[in-house]
Amino acid sequence: MARDQWGTRMGFILAAIGSAVGLGNIWRFPYVAASNGGGAFIFPYFFAILTAGIPILILEFTIGHKFRGGAPVALGRMNKKWEFLGWFQSAVAFFITVYYVAIVSWAISYIGFAATKAWGTDTAAFFFDYIGLSDGPWSLGGVQIGILIPFLVIWAIAYFILSKGIKRGIEKANRILIPTLVALMAVIVVRGITLPGAIDGFNYLFTPQWDKILDPKVWVAAYGQIFFSLSIAFAIMMAYSSYLPKKTDLVNSAFITAFSNHGFELFAAIGVFSVLGYMAQAQGVPVAEVASAGVGLAFIVFPQAISAMPALQGLVGAIFFTTLVFAGFTSFISIIEAFTTGIIDKFGITRQKALNLCMGSAFIVSLVFVTGAGLHILDIVDYFINNFGIVIGGVVEVILIGWFFNTEELRQHANKYSDFTIGKWWIFMIKFVTPVVLGYMVIQNIIENIKAPYGGYAVSAVLVMGWGVIATCVILAIVFYNMKGDYSPMLQTDKEVD
Ligand code: ALA
Repeated sequence: MARDQWGTRMGFILAAIGSAVGLGNIWRFPYVAASNGGGAFIFPYFFAILTAGIPILILEFTIGHKFRGGAPVALGRMNKKWEFLGWFQSAVAFFITVYYVAIVSWAISYIGFAATKAWGTDTAAFFFDYIGLSDGPWSLGGVQIGILIPFLVIWAIAYFILSKGIKRGIEKANRILIPTLVALMAVIVVRGITLPGAIDGFNYLFTPQWDKILDPKVWVAAYGQIFFSLSIAFAIMMAYSSYLPKKTDLVNSAFITAFSNHGFELFAAIGVFSVLGYMAQAQGVPVAEVASAGVGLAFIVFPQAISAMPALQGLVGAIFFTTLVFAGFTSFISIIEAFTTGIIDKFGITRQKALNLCMGSAFIVSLVFVTGAGLHILDIVDYFINNFGIVIGGVVEVILIGWFFNTEELRQHANKYSDFTIGKWWIFMIKFVTPVVLGYMVIQNIIENIKAPYGGYAVSAVLVMGWGVIATCVILAIVFYNMKGDYSPMLQTDKEVD
């Protein structure tokens, strides 16, 4: 059976950008930046992009392309035992899938709410009522019909697109959605920067606070955000690049993907912060105060800001939530594709069978996020997956490859068809800089979490939904690693890829 392939390099790059640009850019980045000192965050973040983000993206594009497989098979072809890491990263992608879909579903509902400003004056009460927020992670409180409907729609559309495959499904969807997303975001940015008070938002976002820069927490947050934002260390980019034709400019593709992602992230942040600046001015409070709402930024603070706008509130609101849906959806399909490709490659089953299995099981697990406990559980799972699942997967990846594989061979493969080539600095980043920073992060995170359970939740909830999810990723990796597969160490035709 011939392996699916991207139709054009542009199609691949758009899909990679589609994966990277997601809720992480519009929903997560502004509040992570805001809660880490606004302008203080930008410098460590930029540093993290150059030392970890781009080097690892190039690494993953190269591995997926050279070893022709999603994370488990590609890493397994480098060293049989490393297949385990590929499954761990795929399991992390599975858990991101199950909560990610809930946020995209909320955003769909909010397109409708925005049109009529259904959230009224108390946007927090409205949001909690809409998601049926229960007392805590252990009280499920029943399925919320308002979320269930968009949720089913999103699963169905994703299934339809992914069934069509790489070129006719994922590539086509991204070709339509990504340009539309950029155009819609431009509307938000223009609206935002023309509001009075927007300048206060910019100042907050871009004025460096040098004292905060020395705080290790800010650095940990910057490195934590970069992985989620660029879709690295959770199996996606290896899967996507495994569908590239032989002669591909990998290095340029990685730079274009990373710069587009971060460019869009800043662009979106300018839109969001100018609106927050406007609102802060209208309420006579500092920007820091309105911007520190955590997960509630998009669904509680933004609706307030929209209602406070001088004109076209319904339209601007609907456009904002549409950007969230488009950005989220193109990432959502990439996260599913990450572990689906792993299954197709290892077991040699058809895409349709693999999708039924992967999407069927993810769908069932994701139902928990449609209940009243959804937001609590989401908060815990998102925190543990980002701070442990992704970071541990990332640090193990750079240590194994940096120290136990011929990185020079990978560098040459990356450079082979690239206009712009990477020098030895790349190996230095993979071998030394990234492992040291990420290693420090993991240790720091473990100490923090032993001191106190995350977010003040019950210890039992943090144990089961936080640590338990990470343990489940390990167990799933052990199970899939030990299952008998149907892939060759390297196919004859694959060798020609070199
Ligand atoms: N990269 C995706 C995002 O930023 C997962 O949301």
